[in-house]
Amino acid sequence: MKSMTGRPVPLLALLCMLFAGLYASTAMATDSANTEQLQRGQYLATAGDCVACHTAPNGKPFAGGLPVPTPIGTIITTNITPSKTAGIGNYTEQQFSDALRRGIRADGKQLYPAMPYTAYAQISDDDVQALYAWFMHGVSPVDTAPEPTRLPFPFNIRLSMAVWNLLFLDGKPFTPDPGQSAEWNRGAYLVRGLEHCSTCHTPRNLLMAEQSSHALAGGDVGTWHAPNITADANSGIGGWSEAELAAYLKLGHATGKAQAAGPMAEAVDNSLQHLTATDLQAIATYLKTVPAQHDPADTRAVDSWGAASDELNSLRGVALPSDPNQMSGAQLYDGYCASCHQAQGQGSFDGGLPSLFHNTATGRSNTNNLLMVILDGINWPADGSGVHMPGFAQVLTDQQIATLGSYLIKHYGNPAGVVSLDQVTTLRAGGAPSHLVLLARLALIVVLLVLVAIIVMLMRRRRRKALQLRP
Ligand code: HEC
Ligand code: HEC
Ligand code: HEC
Repeated sequence: MKSMTGRPVPLLALLCMLFAGLYASTAMATDSANTEQLQRGQYLATAGDCVACHTAPNGKPFAGGLPVPTPIGTIITTNITPSKTAGIGNYTEQQFSDALRRGIRADGKQLYPAMPYTAYAQISDDDVQALYAWFMHGVSPVDTAPEPTRLPFPFNIRLSMAVWNLLFLDGKPFTPDPGQSAEWNRGAYLVRGLEHCSTCHTPRNLLMAEQSSHALAGGDVGTWHAPNITADANSGIGGWSEAELAAYLKLGHATGKAQAAGPMAEAVDNSLQHLTATDLQAIATYLKTVPAQHDPADTRAVDSWGAASDELNSLRGVALPSDPNQMSGAQLYDGYCASCHQAQGQGSFDGGLPSLFHNTATGRSNTNNLLMVILDGINWPADGSGVHMPGFAQVLTDQQIATLGSYLIKHYGNPAGVVSLDQVTTLRAGGAPSHLVLLARLALIVVLLVLVAIIVMLMRRRRRKALQLRP
């Protein structure tokens, strides 16, 4: 054999070249396997919406520091960048898996369930591996640690969560149902696991654990209500087509039905809109089969109430009252809302402005979201390029919002719904204070008193026995 220069190529050099070529091609294969795994890890992290909780407002992605208000106090999310000093750079894959699926961090201590490990417990081994690879190699390390979480006694003792886990953590990974399609199983896996829909949409018991017998029947997320999304035709999404559901998850609204604000807008913005059409379709397929949970208050489908109407006649020639709190619902609507939602609440489809009748926001018997949207507005993505409705917290008083809310429900929604002045004041203040800390302390005092009583009784009995034994 001759080389291109015409000199014979020594056999050894040829062998070397052959091996080098072989080596390079296997290295390339593992490299592309790694790229593939990293891409999958990134997609899974998006599906899990890790960024939403693990990023402070205006902070670096995944560097933690977001305060999460919970009934037992404010929990601050941690830095999960691969920083060796401030993040999870020293986590082994096993430790990462334990944090994600068992709620146990690297030092062996329990995490608080504000980290949704009860849902992530369903994530498969393969997916945990890909997530770990991406967090270690795809995320830029940030070397600043957020403030540590300081909860009031007794919840500052992390071991208390071990008892909670014993009661409420179902650590079993997802097992596919062979009686269902691959699409259904994919949807179930995403909804129950990575997408953790139940952490918002399932009601919780007194100890803040999800009530699995009422899965997806509606729960509270701070001041917002994550509604019933079971297959019930009136209370849930039973009347939605799969295409409408997939569109809602992709775009944040389903025309003539509902739109996403508050925490749901964040879930769409950070996570759901980035999922593939196949995954969104799978989620829709699965949701349509979630056992129906019916609320007797919903005598019609929540998206079917109301009709176009106005009270413009009552406004003509009437001067506005000097006290703004005396303004009528019709005056408030005309002054602040009609420019977008139109005189009769019919909205305008072309302009992306929803009608206020045939809208779950006015048709739901729980009226918190209706008031929250008036207070906070809607704004996502944060750069202002997308859906925008101004908030009126600085413009309208609590009384005005209560009057307007009642007017909207009466004309456009379920007239059985109730809006009160107290409710607006509470929502504006960030919700009702929780008594869980007080209750836990009281429970501990009761337990201590019972223990003391038992000890005293035992001591007395012993003394009596000793007296009896005396001759
Ligand atoms: C709903 C909010 C929320 C979401 C979503 C979330 N986390 Fe967390 N995570 C937390 C909170 C809060 C903590 C700290 C809890 C504590 O201090 O007990 C935490 C802690 C952790 C820890 C332990 C770090 C340490 O050493 O303290 C890891 C690892 C982690 N999260 C990874 C993830 C990953 C990966 C995802 C996405 C798949 C994710 N988290 C999604 C809220 C969240
Ligand atoms: C962080 C909390 C949170 C998570 C996670 C979440 N949701 Fe929501 N969801 C909400 C809230 C709050 C609303 C009400 C939004 C509104 O009225 O503007 C909502 C509304 C909805 C609606 C509209 C229902 C109606 O009647 O208007 C659907 C459908 C829905 N969510 C499906 C899902 C699915 C599916 C998942 C998981 C893939 C999910 N959500 C995850 C909080 C959440
Ligand atoms: C500048 C235009 C604009 C004004 C003014 C406006 N809205 Fe909106 N409104 C919107 C847009 C845009 C949406 C969301 C559409 C979407 O997500 O597809 C919306 C959504 C809503 C929703 C549904 C929210 C949900 O979570 O489902 C309600 C209820 C609502 N508006 C009530 C009001 C009321 C009451 C007023 C007056 C106080 C008002 N709007 C003023 C533009 C406006």
